[in-house]
Amino acid sequence: MTNKPNTEETKMEKIVSLTKRRGFVYPSSEIYGGVSGVYDYGHYGILLKENIKNLWLKSMIQMRDDIYGLDSAIFMHAQAWVASGHVDGFNDPQVDCKNCKARFRADHILEDHGINADKMPIEFINEKLDELRKAKKLKCSNCGSTDLTPAKTFSLMVKSNFGSPVDTITDENVMYLRPETCGGIYLEYKNTLDTLHPKLPFGIAQVGKAFRNEIAARQFIFRTREFEQMEMQYFHDPKDTKELYEMWKQIRWNWYIENGIPKEKLRFFKHEKLAHYASEAFDIEYNFGFFGDSFKEVEGIHARGDWDLSQHSKFSGVTLDYYDEETKKRFIPHILETSAGLARMMLMFLDNAYTEDLSGEEPRVYLKLPPNLAPVKVAVFPLLKNKPELVAKAKEIFNFLRQDFMCEFDDNGNIGKRYRRQDEIGTPYCVTVDFDTIEKGAGVTVRDRDTGKQERVKIEELTKYMEGAIT
Ligand code: GAP
Repeated sequence: MTNKPNTEETKMEKIVSLTKRRGFVYPSSEIYGGVSGVYDYGHYGILLKENIKNLWLKSMIQMRDDIYGLDSAIFMHAQAWVASGHVDGFNDPQVDCKNCKARFRADHILEDHGINADKMPIEFINEKLDELRKAKKLKCSNCGSTDLTPAKTFSLMVKSNFGSPVDTITDENVMYLRPETCGGIYLEYKNTLDTLHPKLPFGIAQVGKAFRNEIAARQFIFRTREFEQMEMQYFHDPKDTKELYEMWKQIRWNWYIENGIPKEKLRFFKHEKLAHYASEAFDIEYNFGFFGDSFKEVEGIHARGDWDLSQHSKFSGVTLDYYDEETKKRFIPHILETSAGLARMMLMFLDNAYTEDLSGEEPRVYLKLPPNLAPVKVAVFPLLKNKPELVAKAKEIFNFLRQDFMCEFDDNGNIGKRYRRQDEIGTPYCVTVDFDTIEKGAGVTVRDRDTGKQERVKIEELTKYMEGAIT
């Protein structure tokens, strides 16, 4: 353990190290040298991710009457991505360093020099890069060389050889791995309408994998080439767009606050440059301490108009309109979208939870996760490993608590080490069986992760105690 204080310069390294050491996140294919921009999630990583996902699904589906779930396939018809504009337009501007071969996003280079080049045409980007070159300000951030290529457009779409022998794949039939999950939602709008008969406004929500050939995927799990999105598309009458957009902005903002993110660490960012189909786009940004105190997007809230359904209707030849029985009008519903990255959200919760307590003799690191998000809710220990009566009682308690909560049994090492391990994975409660439990029927000790304080609780009251504490 390091004695360094929780400075923002070192926090990212500490979180990357903790998540590897404690089995949350591993670099993918590590024994072969790794795959850039791809990560695997270990035991605690999947538990944390599942908890975040379930919270989102609960708020989007369980607690609402107007949103339906979906799990659409990663592979979709080749034409779907032509219709959506991704095949022609889902590009980023790329610059290469001729010396060290590092790749950069040209718009990010310009952003570092205070020039906003988001979604700007390649000609504009190259003009601005030339200005920096002439002023001798254009340098590779990796090796310092000034020998950088002009920007060229680079498709973010990931191709596959799905369904046909490689030599018969053409630009027309190539199957892509979806770059966003909402594409599947648009294609299932009609089936949802025909089978579940919802009235407008209604939404379809799904969580799933998306793939993008990101040029610079170098910020741990913040920007990866394979990632999960949690997206909801809200189909509505265009006359209601303004009101519903404000409603969704508020609902999503509140979700972060309700789940323990302080409002000072959040802000809305309004996009001035909009995608051709969008009429409004806001991001919810979180102030990531480990990126040197900077607000970065965790979720986008977009008004997409009727563009998606119109395009898919045009390209498929299938009518995707809606008949309003009250007004007797047919029209293509407009869409509001909320779109969040699951791993990015996990990183946000980790950043917010990472705490170093330097008040004791030794620094104590703990993840102050809300109990309902913590991967493990309760750890159960016998005070000593070599006392069979303590071990048997602790196992008995572990076995009944695990029916209701994600629990861990641990009898390895001294009790201080066991507390430390649970602190680092964010376990809110540790239950210890000691001699008073056995000899005096004095219940067990329950230790609180955040305060380190212990209280005695009767064994028969433990489940109720935990139910009250873990909401
Ligand atoms: N359907 C709209 C859409 O996909 P986006 O802004 O490209 O919009 C939405 O992505 C969210 O998905 C982002 O706010 C972010 O949380 C997540 N995301 C996007 N690209 C990502 C990547 N390469 N790695 C991890 N998360 C990503």
